[in-house]
Amino acid sequence: MAGQPDNEQGLREAAARLAKMIRQADKVVALTGAGVSTESGLPDFRSRQGLWSQRDPREVASIQAFHHEPLTFLRFYSWRIRQLSGAMPNRAHRALAGLEKHGYLHMLITQNVDRLHQAAGSRRVVEMHGNLRELECASCKRMYDSTLLDKEINSLADAPRCECGGLLRPRVVLFGEMLPASALDTAMKESSNCDLMIVAGTALQVGPVNMLPELALDAGAKVAIINRDPTPLDGMAHLVWNGNAGDILSETCRELGLEV
Ligand code: OAD
Repeated sequence: MAGQPDNEQGLREAAARLAKMIRQADKVVALTGAGVSTESGLPDFRSRQGLWSQRDPREVASIQAFHHEPLTFLRFYSWRIRQLSGAMPNRAHRALAGLEKHGYLHMLITQNVDRLHQAAGSRRVVEMHGNLRELECASCKRMYDSTLLDKEINSLADAPRCECGGLLRPRVVLFGEMLPASALDTAMKESSNCDLMIVAGTALQVGPVNMLPELALDAGAKVAIINRDPTPLDGMAHLVWNGNAGDILSETCRELGLEV
């Protein structure tokens, strides 16, 4: 059943239904994407104003771009890293952290690289696409804080390098790279073992993460989808809310009697 986002009563009813699904479930897992962070001022990828409407990911976010155009690649990531500096967790992050704190949420699987879930207090987080807060040397693997990539990079003629001479890169998964095996393994196991999956702020366009809700469904779990735009899995979900994640997740916490 799809929700009506601009209807207060519709919001309350959907939140009440989600709260009931949470209460009835033994093991709840959440899967989040960039849409959970838009209310923190960070753009998503595939909305009309999303990052990939302005830049071609093959040119700025692929392993090929890193090898062939490292300066262009690092300028793009420097810009994204600088965006993080003022970003604070929003109601959706706080609600998910509150659900975990009060024993309702077993595990949070995220495609996000901004670490805002952790900043809100989530502890059991599986990062599927790495994180933007750390850099590593592609040769010796030495780690650096990502704020090292400041806006001076725009006036550099060459890509900055590690002391060993290797190229630096953010510790994110690039197009053309495999996901971290342990994160994928954990995410697949948790998806197959939950009885409710809350999917929030993801267009479910990118594999293999977009297969996780289907793993949950195949294992008999209920799936609740919270996303502004429709997703390919809406027709199979037990609850669909086409609105802001912050609205319904905070209202759901209120329904459960949680202050977040
Ligand atoms: P997308 O941009 O593909 O999808 C984000 C979804 O969030 C969109 O469908 C929006 O409608 C929805 N949305 C935006 N704001 C929202 C809000 N406040 N509340 C609810 N929904 C909202 O982002 P992801 O699915 O996260 O990978 O993208 C998956 C991966 O593709 C990313 O991790 C990234 C990207 O390329 C890599 O960089 C490897």
